[in-house]
Amino acid sequence: MGYKVAVVGATGNVGREMLNILDERNFPADEVVALASRKSVGTDCSFGDKTLKAKALDHYDFSDVDICLMSAGGAVSKEWSPKIAAQGAVVIDNSSAWRMDPDVPLIVPEVNADAAAGFTKKNIIANPNCSTAQLVVALKPLHDRATIKRVVVATYQSVSGAGKEAMDELFAQTKAVFQIDEIVPKKFPKRIAFNLIPQIDAFMEDGYTKEEWKMLVETKKILDPKIRLVATCVRVPVFIGHSEAVNVEFEKPITVEEAREALRGAPGCIVIDKHEPGGYVTPYESAGEDGTYISRIREDATVENGLTMWIVSDNLRKGAALNAIQIAESLIKRKLITAKQKAA
Ligand SMILES: NC(=O)c1ccc[n+]([C@@H]2O[C@H](COP(=O)([O-])OP(=O)(O)OC[C@H]3O[C@@H](n4cnc5c(N)ncnc54)[C@H](OP(=O)(O)O)[C@@H]3O)[C@@H](O)[C@H]2O)c1
Repeated sequence: MGYKVAVVGATGNVGREMLNILDERNFPADEVVALASRKSVGTDCSFGDKTLKAKALDHYDFSDVDICLMSAGGAVSKEWSPKIAAQGAVVIDNSSAWRMDPDVPLIVPEVNADAAAGFTKKNIIANPNCSTAQLVVALKPLHDRATIKRVVVATYQSVSGAGKEAMDELFAQTKAVFQIDEIVPKKFPKRIAFNLIPQIDAFMEDGYTKEEWKMLVETKKILDPKIRLVATCVRVPVFIGHSEAVNVEFEKPITVEEAREALRGAPGCIVIDKHEPGGYVTPYESAGEDGTYISRIREDATVENGLTMWIVSDNLRKGAALNAIQIAESLIKRKLITAKQKAA
């Protein structure tokens, strides 16, 4: 018997990608339901060669749902995830609402799949922030090899990371530039077309943004609490694909060749690193792909054991939808969930 899967936020960027990936990977689902807000009831959501009609979250009965993939933002998740979990569905949530809750595992299957076993306390599992997900996939094999002490990361994050309205804003502003129309920022604090913005999420008291803080605390929770990390998160006028320039300092020596070798065999990692024009991966090329691409691996001679590299991935896939579905697959593989009996 297969699973019944609910996708909450099915009309959004991440939700649409979830439906695509469930179909592409032949996820063992007998039934998939698309849920969104009341305003989207009846909206077509494509699922392989089928079309699902969106239903309203607040009228939905989850009692026969096995897995709920949530991607409707933090406020919706705070209110709804516990109610859905109480009806016996495992909630895999994409928002930041539950990530730092000690009773909620924060999982990137390539890195800490075993930690998912603790999900039964709340019946909720959290997906990390998109920038953290691709970072820890690439850091894990290097950490295993030479023990990471410190990470300095600058991100170049695409507008899709801020939802579908943000993509529309980049498109509309780009058009306005060519038509010499007025540009009025709405979703972003400043113009994003032909520009970049060194602020993602709200400012905190210490001057860092919440996105930068999330990268620090989530990397510690997923990979190792001893790792020190400092981030500068920047929004760039790219539709899909987050990029990161990363400096890593290790406890033990590690050469560029050893790092390449460790990354080449590691789950989720793809090394493309030729010393020639175009011998690296750009965010545009990562869109629609599952891998975390690592390029430009070099020695950082400013510290004792240091490397620097360029990491790119599709933020809607590894950064969100794909990671959530890999978590669900790993629960099934480890026999941590079973399908509920459904009424005939
Ligand atoms: N985009 C990324 O790279 C990324 C990565 C990691 C995590 N996330 C997280 O994933 C979540 C969704 O992001 P997104 O980029 O897909 O946003 P989005 O494109 O703006 O989509 C939001 C979705 O949530 C639904 N929704 C909003 N309010 C709702 C309500 N009251 N009840 C039910 N559904 C509601 C929307 O439905 P309507 O269309 O009916 O409004 C829509 O389907 C966010 O928490 C985000 O932080 C995103």
